[in-house]
Amino acid sequence: MAGVGRRFGAHHAVHALSFDVARGSFFSILGPSGCGKTTLLRMIAGFIEPDEGDIAIGGRSMRGVPPNRRPVNMVFQHLALFPMMDVGDNVAYGLLQRGVARAEAQRRAAAMLERVSLPGSLRKRVEQLSGGQRQRVAIARALVLEPTLLLLDEPLGALDLKLREHMKVELKQLQAAFGTTFVYITHDQSEALVLSDRVAVMNAGRFEQVDSPQALYYAPATPFVAGFVGANNRFAGRVVALRGGQAEVACDGGLVLHARVAGPAAAAPVVGAAALAFVRPEAMLLARDAAELPADQPHYRGRVRSVLFDGAASSVLLHVAGSGAEVRVALPQSGRFADLRVDEAVAFGFDPRQAACFAAPADGR
Ligand SMILES: Nc1ncnc2c1ncn2[C@@H]1O[C@H](COP(=O)(O)OP(=O)(O)O)[C@@H](O)[C@H]1O
Ligand SMILES: [Mg+2]
Repeated sequence: MAGVGRRFGAHHAVHALSFDVARGSFFSILGPSGCGKTTLLRMIAGFIEPDEGDIAIGGRSMRGVPPNRRPVNMVFQHLALFPMMDVGDNVAYGLLQRGVARAEAQRRAAAMLERVSLPGSLRKRVEQLSGGQRQRVAIARALVLEPTLLLLDEPLGALDLKLREHMKVELKQLQAAFGTTFVYITHDQSEALVLSDRVAVMNAGRFEQVDSPQALYYAPATPFVAGFVGANNRFAGRVVALRGGQAEVACDGGLVLHARVAGPAAAAPVVGAAALAFVRPEAMLLARDAAELPADQPHYRGRVRSVLFDGAASSVLLHVAGSGAEVRVALPQSGRFADLRVDEAVAFGFDPRQAACFAAPADGR
């Protein structure tokens, strides 16, 4: 993609985007609803033309190439299976359209259904299948055409949580088994992190960062990415000092914290200017006695507001003493704080190198 953009009237849905997707990789576009993900995907599929820029697939420009001549297939959130056809005919449909003989199309459909773990479903009716099975039929129907590129628009969005978790694993295995390039769009950060080789975080028609899931999580490039990917404590304040690559930030509500300077050099935090600091709940250390915390790191006193038991991801919400701030601290797996009570006084701290400070964006995002 080179400088691909699209407007709808006065609304700039996608700003001149340039990026590459490696052949055979799983690439996700992650962003909130309305940020332009579907518009971008529809431009790749050829359903809408970009106003500017060029899209190439496998080195070939797609300018003027109609959707049915692109080496691309698309899977939608609300799948468009034909309800009056059986499963086999649904999967064979595209092959027949391309002039493949009926017997051969049925043979390939059956083989594909086996590969997506739906053997023996060739002659079933669509309504006999569960939501997850239908979604697998939709994927089989797209993959049987052997596209260079498979575009998936929130394909798990209509499924319930448990099925979504299960299909996530299956999608990843399918992509690896077929080696097809997947471009997957979602507003669910956990899907993007689990599935992808690389993720583009999209916001208001622009890419904020294109990176590995690990880099997005541990080294967010912008405050938007820090706030959108993973749970994060966010503090707004003002920079009071800068030294040794760290900022001292006086936060609204009275909390003073230290954090590593993050983000692009061109938009670095400045003394006296507004800043945003982020600390992951699992970077926070909790103790009943401040003396248990590392002596060379700042620490704070707080009071338990609520305990959020969520198995492995349990955390506690603290009210920070002498400030209006609230912080979320992940509870260690040891169960050492299993008996933590609401209103109990505790101490917490964190290594400033594990916290990130950005200059506050002009628009306050
Ligand atoms: N055909 C269209 N006509 C006018 N506006 C549109 C059209 N398609 C999308 N938009 C607008 O473009 C923006 C991005 O939409 P979309 O790409 O669907 O976002 P997403 O898929 O990230 O939720 C939205 O503000 C949406 O209202
Ligand atoms: Mg969409």
